[in-house]
Amino acid sequence: MTSHTPDHGAAGAPAPAAPGGARSFHSMWNELAPIGRHADTGGYRRYAWTGADADCRTWFQEQALARGLTYETDRNGNQWAWLGDPLAGDAVVTGSHLDSVPDGGAFDGPLGVVSSFAALDELRHRGAEFSRPLAITNFGDEEGARFGLACVGSRLTAGQLTKEKAYELRDGDGVSLPRAMEAAGYDPDAIGADPERLARIGAFVELHVEQGRALDLSGDRVGIASAIWPHGRWRFDFRGEANHAGTTRLVDRRDPMLTYAATVLAARTEAALAGAVATFGKIAVEPNGVNAIPSLVRGWLDSRAADQATLDTVVTAIEKAAHERAEQDGIDLAVVRESFTPVVEFEHALRDELNRILGGAVPVLGTGAGHDAGILSAAVPTAMLFVRNPTGVSHSPREFAAEDDCTAGVLALADVLEGLACR
Ligand code: GLV
Ligand code: MN
Ligand code: MN
Repeated sequence: MTSHTPDHGAAGAPAPAAPGGARSFHSMWNELAPIGRHADTGGYRRYAWTGADADCRTWFQEQALARGLTYETDRNGNQWAWLGDPLAGDAVVTGSHLDSVPDGGAFDGPLGVVSSFAALDELRHRGAEFSRPLAITNFGDEEGARFGLACVGSRLTAGQLTKEKAYELRDGDGVSLPRAMEAAGYDPDAIGADPERLARIGAFVELHVEQGRALDLSGDRVGIASAIWPHGRWRFDFRGEANHAGTTRLVDRRDPMLTYAATVLAARTEAALAGAVATFGKIAVEPNGVNAIPSLVRGWLDSRAADQATLDTVVTAIEKAAHERAEQDGIDLAVVRESFTPVVEFEHALRDELNRILGGAVPVLGTGAGHDAGILSAAVPTAMLFVRNPTGVSHSPREFAAEDDCTAGVLALADVLEGLACR
């Protein structure tokens, strides 16, 4: 992390009042806030290709049209709003996603999209003249809450997910991804890699709420991303034998819940030993009866580490512990890696350029969270800005960023876009 002074604005000075960006940020934020928010939990349930997602997409399109931008969806259902000629090339692109995890917070994703429109408003307010095309994006299905795979929109575009593999994705009700896209009014036949589109992007910058407390601890409103940890999702299917919870003697049981529970504990131990993280946050049980020993426990492991070797070590150790325990419990175990994202080191030249534009005193942070920026970084120069999150909580309704910090984020993004696109 570079040196910095506490509580300064993104450019090293107190955040100035910016009627353009700050004002429009506020009204956009309030418009978007009720969409997909659950009345009981206060969390967001904006899953890909559902009604709440459609409402978010309508909102995006309205914002684009209200600003006189050229609106389009690409072959993978990602939304684009263009200022300037979309075909000219060397475009500066900014944006994030509008979908959420189950009962997610308001900021993860939407902060980047709303800040992008607000940054454009700010630049127009400043009278900026653009020398490169600018686009604002909403990438589809970033969280993977419905179909299990994260960053589907950007992965398809970057050719990291094939059409064939995408067609195999199913939600919890057995609805396939192509049928869900079709039902939402998109053409699933068209999906696939989009190298021509990527070739027209000169730089992609994603602003995102920080999902940790580094900026809170350093006293900065805004930071720049250095790298994303390698991470993946593994599905563990523990198969035993359904039987009566009252009449089956303990010694006669083949209870997959026991094996699953031991595996959760092993995951915690192995992650702690390696300085990594490992989480079982989703589980499906069959037959799921309170008075029945389960026949199947399906648990999804999410594991991440600072480097590939450590992640491999942790996941191998968890699998070994699970197999050993399965043997003991008479359980059949199958483990499938459902997704994997290698380490991402954001391009140094663009990162240095952002730092220079923002005054050279902005902290540089790594993160364990995945982003569309990480996927795109394999194909285009990519950078990220983080906005302070005082508690570090994310993927929860308690996720938060203060209004002044959001304003600092908008101004920082406006400065960056001005520095890149208005030369
Ligand atoms: C996305 O937010 C992820 O890191 O899982
Ligand atoms: Mn997220
Ligand atoms: Mn996100």
